[in-house]
Amino acid sequence: MKFFVDTADIAAITELNDLGMVDGVTTNPSIIAKSGRSIIEVTREICSIVKGPVSAEVVSLKADEMIAEGRKLAEIAENITVKVPLTWDGLKTCKVLSQDGFMVNVTLCFSANQALLAAKAGATFISPFIGRLDDINLDGMELIADIRSIYDNYDFKTQILAASIRSANHMKEAALIGADVATAPPAVIKAMANHILTDKGLEAFMKDVAATGQKIL
Ligand code: E4P
Repeated sequence: MKFFVDTADIAAITELNDLGMVDGVTTNPSIIAKSGRSIIEVTREICSIVKGPVSAEVVSLKADEMIAEGRKLAEIAENITVKVPLTWDGLKTCKVLSQDGFMVNVTLCFSANQALLAAKAGATFISPFIGRLDDINLDGMELIADIRSIYDNYDFKTQILAASIRSANHMKEAALIGADVATAPPAVIKAMANHILTDKGLEAFMKDVAATGQKIL
């Protein structure tokens, strides 16, 4: 499973990228607002750090405007993925931009039927939002599993990008189901390294190191 990092925090992207944990980046208008920078400027900086797909989201609602915005965003760098919402106009935009040869990430997906439409429209990525479904007492992971089955049934090439990931457990479940990519905030990716038994084991080892005075260097 590829890891995308869901942030515009340059320091966090750089740290994870240096460790080989970043296959791409996703942003959205709320993440850009949090960065306090212009979408063009911050996206350009992210693309100078990360080689894989960097999603930048359009900000209009009509297809002709979204297409123009998408083409402008795509000028930033070769690895730009134009992110469009899963609306009828977003699907039209997806069709046009993917035919132009650009990568397109269709976002705000909350149903298997929406994912089926995005694949038909030529999306490179479909972004089902797990956490936001869980928030309203639905099962986000069930949606990932449904989309996996449908895409496999018909050999759709659209990659399932599990989004709105809130926990390390979400990462494990997405990987078990076979999501192609998971995008998560830096803190969630880091939390994957945590285990209480690792902490306890290391504490015991360090006590023994101190007791014996062992040194390697
Ligand atoms: C994905 O591309 C979205 O930016 C993101 O995962 C949304 O996550 P949230 O529901 O935690 O805002």
